[in-house]
Amino acid sequence: MALRKIKRTSHNSDDVKRLQQQNLRTCKDVLSRSTLELFKIIGKSQSSVEELIRNVSLLCAPKACTAAQLLQKRKLKTNTCPFFATSLPDLDKVLHGGIPIGSITELAGPAGCGKTQFCMMLSLLSTLPTEMCGMAGRVIYIDTESTFSASRLVEMARNKYPDYFNDEDRLKNLTENVLVDFHSTCDSLVNRFQELEMDIISQKVKLLIVDSIASLVRKEFGGHLEYNMAERTNFLTKTAAILKNISESFQIPVVVTNQITTRLATTSKDFQTCNAGNAYATVALGNTWSHSVNTRLIIEYVDSVLRQVMVAKSPIAPFTSFYYTIQSAGIVQEKDSAYHYYGTDPTVQRIRVRTDVL
Ligand SMILES: Nc1ncnc2c1ncn2[C@@H]1O[C@H](COP(=O)(O)OP(=O)(O)OP(=O)(O)O)[C@@H](O)[C@H]1O
Ligand SMILES: [Mg+2]
Repeated sequence: MALRKIKRTSHNSDDVKRLQQQNLRTCKDVLSRSTLELFKIIGKSQSSVEELIRNVSLLCAPKACTAAQLLQKRKLKTNTCPFFATSLPDLDKVLHGGIPIGSITELAGPAGCGKTQFCMMLSLLSTLPTEMCGMAGRVIYIDTESTFSASRLVEMARNKYPDYFNDEDRLKNLTENVLVDFHSTCDSLVNRFQELEMDIISQKVKLLIVDSIASLVRKEFGGHLEYNMAERTNFLTKTAAILKNISESFQIPVVVTNQITTRLATTSKDFQTCNAGNAYATVALGNTWSHSVNTRLIIEYVDSVLRQVMVAKSPIAPFTSFYYTIQSAGIVQEKDSAYHYYGTDPTVQRIRVRTDVL
């Protein structure tokens, strides 16, 4: 909220221009200055400065509202339902329609299990017209691992919707609606997040994907975790706050991917489920991040072909699991494969990894 641009305030535009000329662009920039400094910048009476502070504070203050107003706001903004269908029917059903709009959904899982495939599929789906259950919008795909593949996106589109995408113009439209942004450092990622608001409005963005948060965080804070734990937690908290603000303000789904980490078993139950020795795999980035994501979907290997997606954290769905495969048409659910499982704290949920060596 504090990072909101002051050009969105209802305050007098001349004052806003003067502030911007002094490089004060966000609510935080303005509210960090003393009344005297603001008085010098806008060169008006004390009451004008007080009005400015009030307006800027209103812009960044969270507003209280009733549940009825929230429902109404969602209806107006999304026009249809507050969820975005994933093309896995049983998963959509248990999530009341799909990936929630207005909050953060995480896809976590081992290397190569299909997180990027899932994200590319969501990119394709979100650009489709609403009659085809899409959101008729653009996607910002933040790629921190340089793994996004435009040719794979086109392959999925051609195979999933052969009738619709037999037209080259539609394929061109699809590829033009996916805005891929490469970032290889945490600093450049945060800078990008701070500029996202304008792009989301001007480019009619309906979906934001960050693939992946974990690769950057682990690269930059992974070395001596005991020394830089506080910095890592700060970065993750800040990132989550910005992403939540974006998803809530613009009523778009934000999807982030995460990796796995290894934990040492401490209880006898832990030892029974260890993948190797006395360790087991679970979602990376720790407790703070686990609390920050609203919905956590864990993807794991079943065998070389079959994958399993588990709803490991959701404010509206029980622990449920589904089987699916990755095909040329993207992610495809195995029929009637949904079942409830005994889930646990999503921070320590065990993840099956591939242990077979060919
Ligand atoms: N055209 C395709 N048809 C079928 N399966 C495919 C196709 N393209 C990719 N895959 C499957 O997708 C898997 C790779 O998935 P993906 O790159 O999404 O993994 P990931 O979870 O993002 O991995 P990482 O953690 O390394 O980023 C491959 O193992 C392959 O089995
Ligand atoms: Mg990937």
